[in-house]
Amino acid sequence: MGRLTAWVDRRFPFSALVRTSMTEYYAPKNFNFWYFFGSLALFVFAAQIISGILLLAHYQPSAKAAFNSVQTIMYDVKWGWLVRYIHTTGASLFFIVIYLHMLRGYLYGSFKRPRELLWLVGVALYVCLMGEAYFGYVLPFGNMSYWGGEVITSIIAAIPYLGDWLASVLRGSFGVGTPTLTRFVAFHAVLLPALLAVLILTHLLALHEVGSNNPDGVEIREHLDARGRPVDGIPFHPYYTVKDMFGVGVFLVVFCAIVFYAPTFHGLFIETYNFSPANPLKTPPDVTPAWYLAPYYAMLRAVPNKAVGIGILFAAIIAPFLLPWLDYSPVKSSRYRPVYRWMVIAFALTLLALGWIGMQPATPALLLPARIFLALYFLFFLSLPLVSRLEPTRPVPQRISAS
Ligand code: HEM
Repeated sequence: MGRLTAWVDRRFPFSALVRTSMTEYYAPKNFNFWYFFGSLALFVFAAQIISGILLLAHYQPSAKAAFNSVQTIMYDVKWGWLVRYIHTTGASLFFIVIYLHMLRGYLYGSFKRPRELLWLVGVALYVCLMGEAYFGYVLPFGNMSYWGGEVITSIIAAIPYLGDWLASVLRGSFGVGTPTLTRFVAFHAVLLPALLAVLILTHLLALHEVGSNNPDGVEIREHLDARGRPVDGIPFHPYYTVKDMFGVGVFLVVFCAIVFYAPTFHGLFIETYNFSPANPLKTPPDVTPAWYLAPYYAMLRAVPNKAVGIGILFAAIIAPFLLPWLDYSPVKSSRYRPVYRWMVIAFALTLLALGWIGMQPATPALLLPARIFLALYFLFFLSLPLVSRLEPTRPVPQRISAS
């Protein structure tokens, strides 16, 4: 092994990479529960790529064959049902993991200097992930896929100036059909996974450049020992590789429980209407998006004018990009920011409420609540400059060990 490593090292900086990114990469010693989700996101991404490649071996992207090819995967292909359920469950759990990963960033101020770029790449990853999920949702060409394809592309058509062009590029025809599926498969299986992979690599490079934040928001690189190592840091390997493996183990228990016992998750992970084939003559009673996109759908429906609605949706997606500049409190962690802490909790509840509303049939009774929560969503971002200036913060410890 030693001779093989030496042979490789003379041609490629293998050992140096392991040292700088694992055994001599120092991470804060106080990582908690919230720090499981980055490595879990990597794990689910890998699971989606592998199960996706296997699905593609049998999937046929045409309006006539798509639905049946998925049925073949479920009933005839050996272990096909397992691969498909891994992929559908993985999609939803990816979003749960990412939402918790983002919430951690909000809670501990991980978007603040010097991690602004790390945050921006993270939000770009989230936006790409929404696209990835949407294109995948249309592929099995069940009735919900079809109507999801129709509804979203016609919303896109309402974008001023560019809309019609963009919608026809996406559909590849006047309606949603074979040309749509062939290009959606290109986006879902090639373009966006490649983009996600590049962004994930950039995300990790940026993380290693600035180092991890932690629940106290204390910069461990500001206190070094005589050998230049952070006194409040521990080597990533073996300490956090072991911790992350434990996280993956627990995650797999939940993952398998869903895959084997509740793969549709009562219509949340696989829509009930998607068990019947696409039918342009039969609209499902309520066309609702997957749960993880539902908050945005609720925002869109809260505004009567389609073009204005799209503008608001756009602003809602852009807002997290601006976070590092909207919140300029010198204190990072919400542990020492009593007002901001409650704002983040309220913000998370607002998104949950919007998600719930987005999955309900469009009834007049929900219009007012949808508008109130939409306003609360933006209020969070808009009030940050003021709160970060006026909030009485608690004293931040100099060192992690002092907290
Ligand atoms: C495919 C999606 C993603 C993957 C694979 C990924 C992976 C990771 C990993 C492995 C870490 C280090 C471990 C950890 O801190 O938990 C990390 C840190 C981080 N990520 Fe992500 N991430 C993704 C998406 C996002 C998104 C959507 C955001 C925010 C919008 C984000 C923001 C951050 C931040 C701020 C950190 C540093 C946190 C800290 O040090 O406190 N990431 N990410």
